[in-house]
Amino acid sequence: MISDNELARIKELKEKHDAVILAHYYVDGDVQAVADYVGDSFFLAKAATKIKAKTIVFAGVSFMGESAKILNPEKKVVMVDEFADCPMAHMVDIDDIKKVREEYDDVAVVCYVNSTAEIKSYSDVCVTSSNALKVVKNLPNKNIFFIPDYNLAHYISEQLPEKHFIFNDGFCHVHKSINKEEVLAAKELHPDAEVLTHPECTADVLAISDFIGSTSEIIDYATASAKKEFLVCTEMGVFYELGQKNPEKKFYSVGHRQFCPNMKKVTVDKLINRLENLEPEVILPEELSVKANAPLIKMLELASK
Ligand code: 13P
Ligand code: SF4
Repeated sequence: MISDNELARIKELKEKHDAVILAHYYVDGDVQAVADYVGDSFFLAKAATKIKAKTIVFAGVSFMGESAKILNPEKKVVMVDEFADCPMAHMVDIDDIKKVREEYDDVAVVCYVNSTAEIKSYSDVCVTSSNALKVVKNLPNKNIFFIPDYNLAHYISEQLPEKHFIFNDGFCHVHKSINKEEVLAAKELHPDAEVLTHPECTADVLAISDFIGSTSEIIDYATASAKKEFLVCTEMGVFYELGQKNPEKKFYSVGHRQFCPNMKKVTVDKLINRLENLEPEVILPEELSVKANAPLIKMLELASK
């Protein structure tokens, strides 16, 4: 639990440096509690384009800070932990993108935001888990090379039979580790609970779920639901906001591995330290930043259609 002294210090430093804190739902509840904007990847990307403050302190993993910087090159972006990185963000090769582009004339390279700035710079459009279906549906291309996540790609492909998907074998180790047997065992323990699942989970887990959505969508669904119990198949960080919004409802995990070690590198102590020093800054070469900006902007446009 965050102390009054820590709260006061964060407030004072934010005012001193004209800074705002952006946090993903997977970071610790204490960090979420002091953030100015908390949300899923799409919400945070949109929020980053609207911020007036001079400095963004990002409580999340590196691809999120990079996206905030790419969308706001004139602002100072500082990561709470610059070593918090998403392994999936690196799970596709630029050579694979080049090969697919050579093989297909009519192809769109669709890049999940969980990717490095370099990978984005070789892509046509970005997506997040909450807008991927809409964005891909709005593309004129028949062939879709969906990178890096296989599970999200597969989930979207099943809903768009008119498209031809080319898959990549990237994955999120946190969501992949949530297995069907554990979900079924948890369902036996809590027969009245609805199963809420993130689309980075495997297809067999999605198949036994009552609702599939991004972190924000899972929170919104549970909040609107008349049900009182839920099995939550995503990273444990969402339990904070689920509990805040629904103190009378019960939320259960389905295993012991729903824990992203990179998101958990973000702590209140480090946040205060970063607000004091405002370094290291996220710095990207200008050419890379301009190239990676185009697919992010295209995502924002297509997702708002
Ligand atoms: P969303 O923020 O789109 O729910 O994605 C979750 C995720 O894996 C972020 O790392
Ligand atoms: Fe990456 Fe998975 Fe962690 Fe999200 S939860 S940052 S996708 S490893």
